[in-house]
Amino acid sequence: MTMGSEDKKDLGAWYKMVSAENAGYKETLTVTEHPGCFPYLLKNSLREQPVLKELREQIMAEPMAGSSASADEAQFICMLMQIMNAKRIVEVGVFKGYTTLAMALQLPSDGKIVALDVPYEWSPLPEKYWNKGGVRDKIDLRLAAADESMRKLIAAGEAGTYDLIFIDANKDGYPVYYELALELLRPGGLVLVDNTLYHGTLLGDPEKMKVDSRTIHELNQRIHKDERVTIAMLPVADGLTIARKKE
Ligand SMILES: C[S@@+](CC[C@H](N)C(=O)[O-])C[C@H]1O[C@@H](n2cnc3c(N)ncnc32)[C@H](O)[C@@H]1O
Repeated sequence: MTMGSEDKKDLGAWYKMVSAENAGYKETLTVTEHPGCFPYLLKNSLREQPVLKELREQIMAEPMAGSSASADEAQFICMLMQIMNAKRIVEVGVFKGYTTLAMALQLPSDGKIVALDVPYEWSPLPEKYWNKGGVRDKIDLRLAAADESMRKLIAAGEAGTYDLIFIDANKDGYPVYYELALELLRPGGLVLVDNTLYHGTLLGDPEKMKVDSRTIHELNQRIHKDERVTIAMLPVADGLTIARKKE
């Protein structure tokens, strides 16, 4: 259902009308109602730097391309970084280094990203393109289980010092990463949780969900009620939740 001009005159009545239909909230999304809108959005807003585009095209030509964030999502994260003047980032889940590169290019020269991934199946692409983009020195790559690396940062006295933490790794680890991220963030810092719509697998009975879906669903419910943060859950890519640590 879309809002007609007459309805707009009385938003209260209009929300009541869509409430009955959609369990309480307006859920019209122009991009889903009009499939041409998403390509339009990309065509009219992406400003992907050549080195990023080259890396993305390499990733697309290799297996598991879908594990890499989309260009619009990366650009959105960079916009958040700009708005908050972010200098200290943790990325949980590097894969082939696309979002790491995007964020590193956005960072000022004294900024840094602690990039966390596990050592196995490591690809040569990240190093190659981080060097090509001239940002290798801003990236502190740590190859170990992410929770272990995050605990090491806390043990090193870095709790409360990070501006933004992007969680995009193994789904079973998300609840722990979320808690550790809140410890590492400064007040006012953002934790971005990727895949919070998890390919539409969160819509059925939680009892029947696969483990990863259920984990994300339960985390979504926890974040929704978490008084330590203010939140926005966006239909960007596979769902992106922004939780801002209260000051
Ligand atoms: C979705 S990909 C990350 C994509 C990347 N952020 C991007 O958009 O370009 C998930 C990554 O999490 C990593 N991962 C899986 N288990 C992990 C763990 N226990 N600790 C750290 N990273 C892990 C995988 O190796 C994989 O590279």
